[in-house]
Formats: sequence, structure tokens, C-alpha cells
Amino acid sequence: MRLLGKGMGVVIILLFLLEAFRFVLKYVFKNYGRWIKENTKYHPLLLKLMNLNKTIHPWTGYLTLVAILIHVYIVTGFTWFNPSGVVAAALMSAEVLIGFLGQYVMKKPRPKAWIWFHRLMPLVIIVAILSHISQF
Ligand code: HEM
Ligand code: HEM
Repeated sequence: MRLLGKGMGVVIILLFLLEAFRFVLKYVFKNYGRWIKENTKYHPLLLKLMNLNKTIHPWTGYLTLVAILIHVYIVTGFTWFNPSGVVAAALMSAEVLIGFLGQYVMKKPRPKAWIWFHRLMPLVIIVAILSHISQF
């Protein structure tokens, strides 16, 4: 059970990295998309990847929250709380909520502040996760 609990922690981190990877993908597409289109045959692949990423992005976010619940259930049985874990989980939930608001509630064009919040939160989350796992 102990290994499974840790394993779920790693699953959360992998899902989170997949979410944050959207930044890299968008950056490459924006800055090198034209070059890739003119000089390589990979442009259709990149387009497909962008679309796939866009489709799974919200769902991966929700899945992260489910994985956190499973992780907490396995390691604590909901009988006690680990403060650094709770901070990481709260920040992650806030990021999912920010994403949800941006995608479904705000009107386009979304305010610039929104994208900056959604973009910088992952950096804060990384610090929170590192401080959580460095405990063990
Ligand atoms: C973003 C949220 C979270 C992530 C990414 C995460 C990740 C991890 C990881 C990777 C480990 C294994 C660390 C190691 O062995 O080196 C771990 C352990 C642990 N986590 Fe979390 N965690 C999160 C949230 C939480 C929350 C909310 C709680 C409790 C309320 C919690 C409680 C624990 C406990 C008690 C352990 C130690 C388990 C053991 O050694 O058997 N975590 N976590
Ligand atoms: C842990 C969860 C999440 C993380 C770490 C995350 C991270 C990111 C990152 C790094 C970007 C790229 C930002 C940029 O352009 O520089 C992005 C874009 C975006 N995210 Fe998330 N996200 C998460 C959850 C969600 C959820 C749950 C939703 C919606 C339900 C969402 C909606 C969006 C939208 C709409 C964009 C595109 C903004 C645009 O292209 O203008 N995100 N996300």
C-alpha cells in the first residue's frame, strides 16, 4: 500500500507535467511553426499534437484532482492531513479552477491577466510539490 501511495504521488506529478507541457507546445508552435512548415514535413504532426493537447488539457486537469484524492486516501485514509500536501493540492485545485473559468466562463478574448495567472501558477505548484516530496 505504501508503494501504491507513493506511486499515485508520481502519477499526479506526471499528469501535472503533461498539463504544463502545453506551454512548450504553444511556444514552439508560435515561434517556430512557420519554419517547421517551410522546412520540414512535421507540420501536420505538430498540428495534430496541438489539437490533441487542446482536447485532453481540461480532462487531464480534472484527472489530476481525482489522482490527488486517491493519493490522499491511500496515504492517510482521510484521517489526518499533511500540511505541505494540502498546500500543493490547494494550489493545483486553484489552477484547475482558473483553467475552467478561462475556458468556459470568460468571454474571448480572455483578459491578459488570466493567461499570466494560468501560466505562472505551475511554477508555484512546482515549488509546493518539491517542498512536499522533500519531506519524505
Ligand atoms: C499536488 C498534490 C500532491 C502531490 C504531487 C504529491 C506527491 C507525493 C509524492 C511523489 C510522494 C512520495 C514522496 C517520496 O516518497 O519521496 C508523496 C508522499 C506522501 N504524500 Fe503526497 N502529494 C500531493 C498531495 C498530498 C496531500 C493533499 C496529502 C495529505 C493530505 C499528501 C500526503 C502524503 C503522505 C502522507 C506521503 C508519504 C507517504 C509514505 O511515505 O508512505 N500528499 N506525495
Ligand atoms: C493542473 C492543471 C493545469 C495546468 C498545470 C495548466 C497549464 C497550462 C499551461 C502551461 C498553458 C499554456 C499557457 C500559455 O499560453 O503560456 C495552459 C493553457 C490553457 N489552459 Fe490550462 N492548465 C491546467 C488545467 C486547465 C483546465 C482544467 C482547463 C479548462 C477546463 C484549462 C484551460 C486552458 C486553456 C483554455 C488554455 C489556453 C489558453 C490560450 O491558448 O489562450 N487548463 N494551461
